[in-house]
Amino acid sequence: MNAPVMQGLTLQAPDYVKNPKLIAWVAEMAALCKPAKIHWCDGSQAEYDALCQELVDAGTFKPLAKRPGSFLAWTDPSDVARVEDRTYICSAKKEDAGPTNNWMEPAEMRATLNPLFDGCMAGRTMFVVPFSMGPLGSPIAHVGIELSDSPYVAVNMKIMTRMGKAVYDVIGTDGEFVPCVHTIGAPLAAGEKDETTWPCSKTKYIVHYPETREIWSYGSGYGGNALLGKKCFALRIASTMGRDQGWLAEHMLILGVTNPEGKKYHVAAAFPSACGKTNFSMLVPPKAFDGWKVTTIGDDIAWIKPQADGSLRAINPEAGYFGVAPGTNMLTNPNCMLSLDKNVIFTNVALTDDGDVWWEGMEKDQGKLPDHLIDWQGKDWTPQIAKETGAKAAHPNARFTVAATNNPALDEAWDDQKGVKIDAIIFGGRRSTTVPLVTEARNWTEGVYMAATMGSETTAAAFGAQGVVRRDPFAMLPFAGYNMSDYFQHWLDMGAKIEAQGAALPKIFTTNWFRKNAEGKFVWPGYGENMRVLKWMIDRLEGQAQGEETAFGVAPQYAEINWNGLDFNAEQFASVTNIDKAAWAEEMKLHGEHFDKLAYNLPKALLDTKAQLEERLAA
Ligand code: GTP
Ligand code: SPV
Ligand code: MN
Repeated sequence: MNAPVMQGLTLQAPDYVKNPKLIAWVAEMAALCKPAKIHWCDGSQAEYDALCQELVDAGTFKPLAKRPGSFLAWTDPSDVARVEDRTYICSAKKEDAGPTNNWMEPAEMRATLNPLFDGCMAGRTMFVVPFSMGPLGSPIAHVGIELSDSPYVAVNMKIMTRMGKAVYDVIGTDGEFVPCVHTIGAPLAAGEKDETTWPCSKTKYIVHYPETREIWSYGSGYGGNALLGKKCFALRIASTMGRDQGWLAEHMLILGVTNPEGKKYHVAAAFPSACGKTNFSMLVPPKAFDGWKVTTIGDDIAWIKPQADGSLRAINPEAGYFGVAPGTNMLTNPNCMLSLDKNVIFTNVALTDDGDVWWEGMEKDQGKLPDHLIDWQGKDWTPQIAKETGAKAAHPNARFTVAATNNPALDEAWDDQKGVKIDAIIFGGRRSTTVPLVTEARNWTEGVYMAATMGSETTAAAFGAQGVVRRDPFAMLPFAGYNMSDYFQHWLDMGAKIEAQGAALPKIFTTNWFRKNAEGKFVWPGYGENMRVLKWMIDRLEGQAQGEETAFGVAPQYAEINWNGLDFNAEQFASVTNIDKAAWAEEMKLHGEHFDKLAYNLPKALLDTKAQLEERLAA
């Protein structure tokens, strides 16, 4: 199709695009956003290379001498994380967005956004980015089209999703797709060039219309605000699709764990942003676990669909990792470090004098701090400056974008259309106190309760105060596309349906790797040592560990954990597992306040579970 959209701009859809609805939508958006050009992405390597070169020429990307095919981008200091206060769920009814989401009436939001989007791409190219969330053609997968005026978005989407021509075959002439529109805002006047290498706008809107399954994002070029397949589609829109269609879209990693006899289990785990999903999904078991193997299916998002036999099968809708760089090193996450050798986009890490990247935590590999760096804001950094000013070389939410296929621990089924069968589900927060290392829920409802009341200290992954405990139910607080209480009910319903079929539900566990001692240091060694906890969970699945009833679920006895090769005595174990009655009395008050806020449609089963828990705590 070769239709004029506006003066000087023709649509020129490639002949393999055969969906009239899609072409009409692109024409409509082009007429509104008024780009200088339209580029239909084909997802080829040549296209990726050309766009990276364009980003280098514009000064947005610095090629990295030490890492082939890799680039470094520094964002505007105002555009470094998700913006939760600018994120909206525009369902027709406010109650359907619920008390945890920002809401605006859809018509009012459209009236707000239309003038902003009018001409927003002036002087820039509009990229048409076709992508599949999940293996192409998988019954669990869904497709989207993102229109964006950011080449940074286009190249990141190439790594993060199955992006390219083949998606049009899936859409065909009348297939469904989720339309996603993204602009960095900051329109240019005729003939003008971007003044900064990271144009973005002060005004930001990350908007979802769940009923019509549309996403509109204005003003940010960063991560979850701009790569719309990720949090916007794969969680906020997909969670509402899951509610309507009977499946789950979750902020979960998926891993495979194989024991020395070759028996394999699959575990999904929900931890809030920057609380250890990528690390856990790539875990390297300690030496004492010879013969055990952990393999990665996904590191951030899981789509879980119930099958006819009552099993739950999950896919990773993504094709790459947009992971936290700081804290990553050969000791904490060797598989991740090995993934980052080539073909990586780094965002907001520091640059070394010899053209490599650096972030806080790398000194553990290198034995010392580097003498000199350029920090993520382009300023000189030395250990002395850091000591005096506290300046971080890398932004705490600095990230890498890398293809899953770079991961040496990639699971052979990661791209399997059928997904993998989930045997256990973990919910874990970041809590310095109160919450024990690991517990197992006695049943599905108690597991849903534990997930629904999970608290976690806030991190740099989102704007706002850091280190403050907030309730982050299911690690989905910023990502649920509908009313949180309805979401709890959906989980309860899914469980009840599977149980009614007589099928076994996955076991539900909670974890907390982050308890601190009086000196403010983490007590639990974490990272690869988390294998010891994972092994206990497998033992529970196999009926090999008895555990111990506590007020808050079933916990491991000290002797049930394999301690080989780790010096961690019973007293230390007690300090990460004990349930302090006074602290829990406080905690239960917070659960109560949380439930008060979610009172509309809050499942009664959760209030009943709370009462039982309180009884046990009082006993
Ligand atoms: P998002 O990509 O934001 O969703 O984060 P994530 O959940 O994948 O977290 P990630 O694995 O990237 O870890 C975030 C931070 O927590 C990093 O700085 C890690 O080094 C640190 N971390 C991860 N696992 C552990 C652990 O077991 N113990 C401790 N103390 N820190 C950990
Ligand atoms: C998160 O914040 O949970 C992330 C990074 O995974 S972002 O893509 O920005 O959402
Ligand atoms: Mn995440």
